[in-house]
Amino acid sequence: MSDRKQVTIVGAGNTGTSMAQILAARGYADVTLIDIVEGLPQGKALDIQEASPWVGTSVRVNGTNDWADTAGSDVVVVTSGVPRRPGMTREDLLGTNAGIVRSVVGSAIEHSPDATFIIFANPMDAMCHVALEASGLPAARVVGQGGMLDSTRYRTFIAMELGVSVRDVSAWVLGGHTEATMVPIVSSATVGGVQLTALMAQDRIDAVVDRTTKGGAEIVGLLKTGSAFTAPAAATIEMVDAILRNERRILPCCTLLTGQWGIENAYVGAPILLGAGGVLDIYESPLSESETAGMVAAGEAVLELVAATPGE
Ligand code: 2OP
Repeated sequence: MSDRKQVTIVGAGNTGTSMAQILAARGYADVTLIDIVEGLPQGKALDIQEASPWVGTSVRVNGTNDWADTAGSDVVVVTSGVPRRPGMTREDLLGTNAGIVRSVVGSAIEHSPDATFIIFANPMDAMCHVALEASGLPAARVVGQGGMLDSTRYRTFIAMELGVSVRDVSAWVLGGHTEATMVPIVSSATVGGVQLTALMAQDRIDAVVDRTTKGGAEIVGLLKTGSAFTAPAAATIEMVDAILRNERRILPCCTLLTGQWGIENAYVGAPILLGAGGVLDIYESPLSESETAGMVAAGEAVLELVAATPGE
């Protein structure tokens, strides 16, 4: 093992592989890709490693089926689980993915007790609860990626609608990572410091919000054989950067709320301070009445999913 930061990505499917590729290109952390399918993580990792002379990175990218090879990881990203197919909701994946997430988190924590966990598997909000319990970690070290992905879609659609650079769009999706529970925030959305409501007619804002909440299903409908992976990977690696480089970013991630907006003990997307060691703070920003109601509904929905999650 080198003295670089170590990141394990669990699951060598499209998402895990895209994450490994993006992270390796950033050049500051070694990446271990682990999967139960023999040869798959090894092949994917070797392919990424072989790209490094042209990508211009010196980090190591390893593929393995053995948890011992993940030892000492600083961050573990859990992508494993089955993705949606057309006609399925994220909630349909609950039973299957809970078993998988419980088992991989249990194995990962044994070898990397100091890691921070980023949960990607769906239904992501409920899987954060499963991972928290399976790891025995403080909630600061188990964080979900949902709002990051939904926000990258929201920002993209706003930029497309206005014909402006996405770099200037500051707009977040909070709440849950399901169509019914996502809360694209309009009240504080700005573009280059200008209120979104001053730039776009209400019917266009409604259309963008609607497209955002259905953003995952739009990709599933187009791909037909699985769900999105490139934007999800980019969104997740931004979180890895924030943690491992202690960037202290304020980002929309899924975190265990402790009374914010009146929500107790439920994983919900909220603005958090993300840096070394995971979630350093949670901000209860003022929201409109309907947005606040959306947050509360997201909290109730995840707790219902948690209650319906099959045990060990
Ligand atoms: C999505 O929204 C995979 O849940 C993910 O595309």
